[in-house]
Parts: sequence; C-alpha cells; structure tokens
Amino acid sequence: MNEHIYDLLKKMPEISGGEAEKALDFALEQTVGNLETFTHDFKRAFSENGFYTPTGNVNWTTGFWTGQIWLAWERAVKNGKEEWARRLKSAGEIQIESFLDRIDEKKEVDHHDMGFLYSPSCVAGYKLVGSGKGKEAAVKAADQLITRFHPVGEFIQAWGPMDQPENYRFIIDCLLNLPLLYWASQETGDRKYRDIAEKHIHTAIANVIREDYSTWHTFFMNMETGEPDHGAACQGYRDGSAWARGQAWGVYGTAMAYRYTGRKEYIEDFKHVTGYFLEHLPSDLVPYWDLEFGEGSEEPRDSSSASIAACGMLEMAKYMEPEDGEYYTGIARRIMKSVADGYAVKSPRESNGLVLHSTYSKKSPFNTCTPEGVDECNIWGDYFYMEALTRLCGDWNPYW
Ligand code: GLY
Repeated sequence: MNEHIYDLLKKMPEISGGEAEKALDFALEQTVGNLETFTHDFKRAFSENGFYTPTGNVNWTTGFWTGQIWLAWERAVKNGKEEWARRLKSAGEIQIESFLDRIDEKKEVDHHDMGFLYSPSCVAGYKLVGSGKGKEAAVKAADQLITRFHPVGEFIQAWGPMDQPENYRFIIDCLLNLPLLYWASQETGDRKYRDIAEKHIHTAIANVIREDYSTWHTFFMNMETGEPDHGAACQGYRDGSAWARGQAWGVYGTAMAYRYTGRKEYIEDFKHVTGYFLEHLPSDLVPYWDLEFGEGSEEPRDSSSASIAACGMLEMAKYMEPEDGEYYTGIARRIMKSVADGYAVKSPRESNGLVLHSTYSKKSPFNTCTPEGVDECNIWGDYFYMEALTRLCGDWNPYW
C-alpha cells in the first residue's frame, strides 16, 4: 500500500486547461484519421503491437469505438471543423445501423454488456443528433438486458445460460451497464427498467465491496435461496486481490449509482472504493493491472483503469459539497496529466490508438480469464481517456 500517496498527490502537477485541450485535439485528429478503415468495420478490443485491426460488430467492446467517434464529433463541432464533423456524424450513423441490426438479429447479445455496447453508441447518437435508429436500438438493448434479471437474487446475471448455478453471479463492471436502463425508463415512461437497475445496484454494492474497501470482480449468489454466496476472481490476479479495472468500475459505478438513485450512502461507498484505488497506485498514478502489484513491479500497467477512475471522480464531483468536489477533480486532473504525458500516443506512426500500456486480461496461476490484450491499447482505455479529457474541457452531458 502506498501510504504516501496523498503527500505525493499534493505535489504532483495537474493537467492544465491548455494541455487537456491539446490532448483532446490530437485524439480528434487521430480518430478522424482512423475513419477510412474503421467506419463499416469496428476496432478490435485491443491493439497488436500498438495497432488495431478491423472487426465486425462482435464482442462487448465495439460501442467504445462508436463512442469515441461521437466524442470526436462533439469536439469537431466545438472547434468549427465542419468537414470533420460531417464525416464523423456519418460514421456514427453507419455504426448505429450496425447496432440496430445486431440487436434485431440477436448477434452476441446473450450477456449483460448491453450498456457498454449501446450507451456510448446509440444513446449518444440519439442525444447528440436525434438518431431515431439509435433510440430504437438502445430501447431494444435495454429489453434484452432485463431478460437477465433474477427476481429471487435481485441481480442481473453477467454471462452464460440463466439456469446453471455456475453462472448465477454478477460482476462489478455491470454498474456501468445500468445507465442504459435509467435512460430507457425515461424515454419510454416505463418504470420497469429503473426498478430492475435499482435492485441490481443494491445487491451489487452490498456484496462486491469488501471490509477493506477493495472489491470482488465477480460475486456468486445461491441459486436456491437467492442469498449472497461468495466472491471470485476472474480477471484479477487472485481471490482476495483487487483487479485494478474492477476497482475502477467500482469508482465510476458508485458515482453512477448515486447519480441515478440519489442515495447518500453511495457517496460514502464512492469515497471508500476510491480511497482504496488511490492508496494502491504507484507514484505515477497509473495502476498495475492488479492493485496487488506496487511501485517497481515488473507486471504490466492498466492505463485504462486510470482514465475510468478519473471519469468516475469527475462525475461524482458534480454532486458533492464544493470542497469534496474540488478535491476529487484535482486528483482526476493529476491522474490525467500522468496518462496524457506518459501513456498517450503522440503520433499516428506510433499507434492507431490513443493510449498505450493497457491490459485487458492477464492470466495468473489463480484466475480464470483468457489472456489477451496485455500491455496494448484497449478500446475502452481510448474511449475513457477521451471522455475524461472532454469532461476537463467544459460541461459535458454523459452518454451514460
Ligand atoms: N468489462 C470487462 C473488462 O473490463 O475487461
């Protein structure tokens, strides 16, 4: 544990307004430069030697690329780059058609990641340019997501067939899938989506946060009784360690839980989970892939966790007392300074992504994941980096 992190944080520089603007402008340019290859195709979940290759609309991750296009569109409009804005909007709309087709045809949608797929792509397109197809696709995705709700255990099941005890679990990441349900209730006037979201939030937060405020990645419930059973690592290093991205989903997830429910106890949960995350950072504020590993470790980093946590802090800061809000904004600014200076791509020759040194899944002797995307760009790392910069460059209406 890094006990000196708070002293260190005070001394570290924040990203300035000008630096955030410059980094966001490079991200915009890089995104426009990618459109030729990645308009009818999507970026894969992770790069190989720094370069993404094209894929169809598969996996849980394609929404982040479309979300990056919408963030770039917002920036292009703000900068008065009309031709870029036109191309970005057209690409975003082409991809929304693909998402509508995916949900209509039920292609790879038997899992809980409907929010990751449909919020930054289709909800964003609806909010920004009034896309009717975006709205239709996102409501259908919300309908799909609620089919995974277990009324007895009161949670949304993450993966696999719904009738097997070995799949009767939820994961911390799901907190970011739930804004889709709140949005669907608001758009349709039907409370059923938000009622389910609220029940899942309650079950998840009551069980994934451990006594020391580290978090479980996955948590099993008892299929007979619906009672909490046990936590288990999947992408983290081992049972009992804190997977860096799981903890970061917890930071952003508790912020979202507060935003949508207004329940004050989630502010405390946010502070605790964020505190654990910060106290286990190395001195440049970008975590190793599991928070078990500290300063000087040879293990790879997960830069995406840094940006995700920064987005969560910037979101939560909006609802806090001014002093607390400034505190978390200051931390987010310091984290993003480190990511922008030390991890972000600086030239298209180096990579066609935005942020290096991210880790999707690293195999350990104790976890159950498939190893992939280690020490590479990850598409959500790129997206949340750009979201964090967008938040730092002015008021932003979240896609979540
Ligand atoms: N939601 C899966 C991951 O963060 O890798």
